Amino acid sequence: MPAAIPPSLLGSLASYPSLHLTPHVGTEFPSPNTQLSSLLSAQNSDELIRDLATLVSHRGVVFFRAQDITLEQQKQLALRLGKLTGRPETSSLHRHPVSENTPELGSDTSVISSQMGIARAGFRKNQRASTGWHADITFEPVPSDYAILKMHTLPEVGGDTLWASGYEAYDRLSPALARFLEGLTAEHDGNFFHKVAKQDGRDIITERGAPENTGTDLRAVHPVIRTHPVTGYKTLFVNRSFTKRILELTEDESANMLDYLARHVAENHDLQVRFRWEKDSVAIWDNRATFHTATNDYDATELRQGNRVVGLGERPYFDPKSKSRREVLGIQTAETLYS
Ligand SMILES: [Fe+2]
Repeated sequence: MPAAIPPSLLGSLASYPSLHLTPHVGTEFPSPNTQLSSLLSAQNSDELIRDLATLVSHRGVVFFRAQDITLEQQKQLALRLGKLTGRPETSSLHRHPVSENTPELGSDTSVISSQMGIARAGFRKNQRASTGWHADITFEPVPSDYAILKMHTLPEVGGDTLWASGYEAYDRLSPALARFLEGLTAEHDGNFFHKVAKQDGRDIITERGAPENTGTDLRAVHPVIRTHPVTGYKTLFVNRSFTKRILELTEDESANMLDYLARHVAENHDLQVRFRWEKDSVAIWDNRATFHTATNDYDATELRQGNRVVGLGERPYFDPKSKSRREVLGIQTAETLYS
């Protein structure tokens, strides 16, 4: 039986059927009668959308089935999720440095496709599938809060996406390692997108949705452990795709530690959820508290495609007084796990 969801976590969404997919990450609203487009236009839509954002921040990722939401509404929703939970006013939707910028979609939409754009298959040829784990756009000084992906075209079978909980990844560290990592900072680097832009014959987009995210050097320094502004929980904030160096360590120490932390996320499948898409499924995730990776297990001639919008949040920070998720929820803590 799926775990019961405490009504306090759902707030005004409590009347819609939902279930937790795993104890630590992922909640689904399985009924096609639950439409995000209706939440957007409901009389109490601010309350509903604020509660949805809070739920996403706590559960990492939330799924909806058979959605009729348009791309314009998807953008609106991404903006309101952040706005209603305290996003700085200067943060808007992200424009990806390698954006298609078509008139139909706009530069604030990323086409997630197996055959074109930033997610096309072939980038990770001959590499382990686990190299794909990442949080979106952490190379930006102001990275993402909420992202929304709606898939409209799918292979006959395969192409699942996996998410992992950054809160739980933090909570699984021994207290000694957690304390060591708190206060360290790491460089995130997305300059490989220059090569992608060149291949596509495009220039890098230099104004990317927040005054901090400008220019052509796609690098930023962030805390290794950050405090989530909505939940207050501590979460691991380094990932395989973008994090290149922990600055306070030697190069070798950093490489080994980052490898350990990436394996910690990828190999603990009990802090992950795997989602099987259907046509017009929608996933909304919190890039501050999760990692995700696609699965390239389907026939290369098959198309898998959807539209993603990515909201920008705040500059990541670490508050030494913040608590971990297990500590707050009274789940057995790492301290007791490791004693
Ligand atoms: Fe992504």
